[in-house]
Amino acid sequence: MSNTENQLKQLLTTEVKIPQHVAIIMDGNGRWAQLRGKKRVAGHKSGVESVRTTVATAAKHGVKALTLFAFSSENWQRPESEVSVLMDLFMFVLTREVKRLHKNSIKFQVIGDLTKFSSKLQKMIKESEALTTENTGMVLSIAANYGGRWDIAQAAKVLARKVERQELNADDITEASLHEQTSLAELPELDLLIRTGGDYRISNFLLWQAAYAELYFTEVLWPDFNEAEFTKAITLFDQRERRFGQTSEQVTNKN
Ligand code: IPE
Ligand code: IPE
Ligand code: MG
Repeated sequence: MSNTENQLKQLLTTEVKIPQHVAIIMDGNGRWAQLRGKKRVAGHKSGVESVRTTVATAAKHGVKALTLFAFSSENWQRPESEVSVLMDLFMFVLTREVKRLHKNSIKFQVIGDLTKFSSKLQKMIKESEALTTENTGMVLSIAANYGGRWDIAQAAKVLARKVERQELNADDITEASLHEQTSLAELPELDLLIRTGGDYRISNFLLWQAAYAELYFTEVLWPDFNEAEFTKAITLFDQRERRFGQTSEQVTNKN
């Protein structure tokens, strides 16, 4: 049996600590396509299959929240033709996949500044969120036109408005009150942040939320990220010791 098959078997049969909230920077679509002599957009299309597998794998392992970085606030700077394909793909996936998510009790939401999207796409997003809002299974958040700095700035704006309306004193602003206004505040803390595609950076993803997340980087390009690769990341998470500023002895004695 191969190493990954073993890990998969171990994960399904023994008590491995499962991260409650996993986020993924799905990178490497363009390079995957170029390596095959295809256009970059072929990589994005193929990446959709990995999204499907990843959602199913996360739900199967009992992950409570899965957050996927689909389009960053910086990605608008790509060639117009590529942006346009990505938007079409987003709409296509919404039409085709949301019913399936709903059937599987998954709650779907999109985070990011949605005002930049076409009104048709915004409407589809709202309808998809509404359809699945009562679902009690895994929460799937798609980050679209999302930026970590934007997220912190928009949270600050909400609090500033409260101060303006005299509902809040500036002195009472705390980490907790700012946190409440950031995206994903209602979900469990981010446990594991995965980046595929071989780069070692956050690219303005969940800056606030990743404060104590475990980071996992893999060379695997997103279209090649499958159940075995995801399982590998989850197994590795189980082996990490999360100290949250304490000593190893302190955290070991607690358990
Ligand atoms: C990630 O793959 C998908 C998006 C950013 C939309 P890329 O398109 O960045 O692929 P590479 O990094 O160029 O290979
Ligand atoms: C990060 O990938 C954004 C998404 C995966 C949506 P990029 O390919 O845009 O990141 P950089 O530009 O290489 O940092
Ligand atoms: Mg990239």
